[in-house]
Amino acid sequence: MEMGNLFSDVESDDKARILELRSLLKEYNRLYYVNNAPVVSDFEFDALMRELQELERQYPDMADNESPTQKVGSDITKGFRQINHRYPMLSLDNTYNEGEVMDFLNRVKSLLGDEPFELCCELKFDGLSISLIYNDGRLVQAITRGDGVKGDDVTDNVRRISSIPQKLEGNGWPSSFEIRGEILMPWTSFERLNMEREAQEETLFANPRNAASGTLKLQNPDIVGQRQLDSYLYYLLGDNLPCDGHYENMMTAKAWGFKVSGDMRKCSSITEVMEYIKYWDTERKNLPVATDGIVIKVNSLRQQEKLGLKAKSPRWAIASKFQAEKALTRVESISYQVGRTGAVTPVANLEPVQLSGTTVRRATLHNKDFMDNLDLHIGDMVWVEKGGEIIPKITAVDVSSRKTGADAKALFISVCPECGAELVRYQGEAAIYCPNSSGCPPQIKGRIEHFISRKAMDIDGLGPETVDLFYRKGLVRDFTDLYSLDSESISILDRMGDKSAENLMSTIADSKTVPFERVLFALGIRFVGEVVAKNLARAFKSLEALGKATYDELVSVDEIGDKIAKSVIEYFADFRNRTVIDRIYAIGLKTELSEEQLASGGDGVLSGKTIVISGVFTHHSREEYKEMIEANGGKNAGSISAKTSFVLAGDNMGPAKKEKAIQLGIPLMDETEFIKMLKKN
Ligand code: IVH
Repeated sequence: MEMGNLFSDVESDDKARILELRSLLKEYNRLYYVNNAPVVSDFEFDALMRELQELERQYPDMADNESPTQKVGSDITKGFRQINHRYPMLSLDNTYNEGEVMDFLNRVKSLLGDEPFELCCELKFDGLSISLIYNDGRLVQAITRGDGVKGDDVTDNVRRISSIPQKLEGNGWPSSFEIRGEILMPWTSFERLNMEREAQEETLFANPRNAASGTLKLQNPDIVGQRQLDSYLYYLLGDNLPCDGHYENMMTAKAWGFKVSGDMRKCSSITEVMEYIKYWDTERKNLPVATDGIVIKVNSLRQQEKLGLKAKSPRWAIASKFQAEKALTRVESISYQVGRTGAVTPVANLEPVQLSGTTVRRATLHNKDFMDNLDLHIGDMVWVEKGGEIIPKITAVDVSSRKTGADAKALFISVCPECGAELVRYQGEAAIYCPNSSGCPPQIKGRIEHFISRKAMDIDGLGPETVDLFYRKGLVRDFTDLYSLDSESISILDRMGDKSAENLMSTIADSKTVPFERVLFALGIRFVGEVVAKNLARAFKSLEALGKATYDELVSVDEIGDKIAKSVIEYFADFRNRTVIDRIYAIGLKTELSEEQLASGGDGVLSGKTIVISGVFTHHSREEYKEMIEANGGKNAGSISAKTSFVLAGDNMGPAKKEKAIQLGIPLMDETEFIKMLKKN
């Protein structure tokens, strides 16, 4: 291969990876902040975020102000009024080692022009952040972080948290100010709550953070009151604050009745900071609430202002995260789980052990290579670690405790535990697969679950248990069978009353209007995620054309490389998939771009246009505008350049952006004009 080709392959892989990481991190943020059910540890999340930051640095033309590197994850939930924050609610940069803490201190030193500065070290509480607004000494509003710009109004719920004062004590508070902090569920309340939930057969909360967040988003303040939430406040904002020192302000706030941690310390040397970190690394286990690191802040507010803010974090603070807690326990056996793509994941069954406040019974072993490298023998003592997710992982085997005559090395299975098919390994892949995609139950059920998921066909009211039930009763063997269900056959299922059967029938019928690109995503073709499906739909315009596309035609599409092209060709070559596709046509799902998109050459009215979104809008959210741009064939970019076609400008557009647009002669369009233009076309 020539170097030129190699280079462009690397570049297009990197760019595809950027898009993949953005969509992955957005999904992880949603699962964490909205569903309160994280699937990866903070450590893994931070590693992916760093990878994205690095790639975005290498490819500045891929800049996008909607990227998770530029925006905090949003906790906005249906059912609450949203309120704009007076000051944006930012996040913190994370570090995991001493070197990065040093880098932070050196950066501060140089930005302050060698002016002396004091630091304040404090615990990083692992709950959910809250902004409390006080007028004339009374609590008037409590808002969650939301997307950083606006958050949910949870005042009624927050009034039920006893450590948050409704009315301040003492005197000297500014007539209007904001105080921010963390809402937490203490370990003891968390354990009690999960025990109650277990007894009621309700899903358990993975950790106290999720429990606190889930509780605060309840629509019933009485239950919030019973759940015994607590709080720690760590940030005072407003005009006329009592002192220039952050630490001093917090001590004053304590005298007004706020719960402020007694473990905040002022430090003036790196040695003191490191001692603080080291002390709390072990001592945190004795705290009544969860913490996930320590926060180091420049103490003077004047200096904080001088250092300023970045897109989603201040330059005057940094978090040093604790390494995950570990525990030693015994491996009793290994089970194997088969996913929707047929990938087989080994899971270790452990002797139960207490770790980070919960009992751990299972740990993932990821894949065959991971298992082989661990050199695991059944009966071995192993170290397990837990991040934010429910399933922890094995990080090491304690070989020294292995007895002579112990079981032989655990070997990966060779046949599928679910259907008995011989397992295979595809070249260049870490996973081992069960190839029996049309006859292996978890694969069939997994594909149906993917098909109905929110970003695919969005068929509400069908959970994994119902899919399982339909499958076992022989009602649904692949996702096309969903469309032949009648309400009678559904309602005979004892778990469903008539009402839910009817609702389900109508959501299934409604899904026939889901646009082609989402239908394509719903098919579950290997490596065809949301973004790739969108690109393929735009390029080929119909399922029929995509099915006939050659390898060369496929790889000439934006972000489509060798791996995806081969997978698409393989999918359409399989006669079983062709049968599914025939049925999709018969059902009447959308298998081509809409009339509007086709009328303008398949791409829509904004085809070939690059649009920057800036400012605050009233008719639609930024995310919705972004979707509208893409649906009409345009490209949404993060920053203004000579290539920008126009700026979709809302209120309070940043002055720097405005100036740049004027300088480059780029037109600004307001939202009414924009909506009119789309309607006209
Ligand atoms: S200061 C501009 N101090 O950590 C950022 N945050 O990962 C101001 N957090 O959103 C936040 N303990 O929810 C600060 N002692 C502490 C904290 C703390 C926990 C949370 C906070 C923030 C998140 C960032």
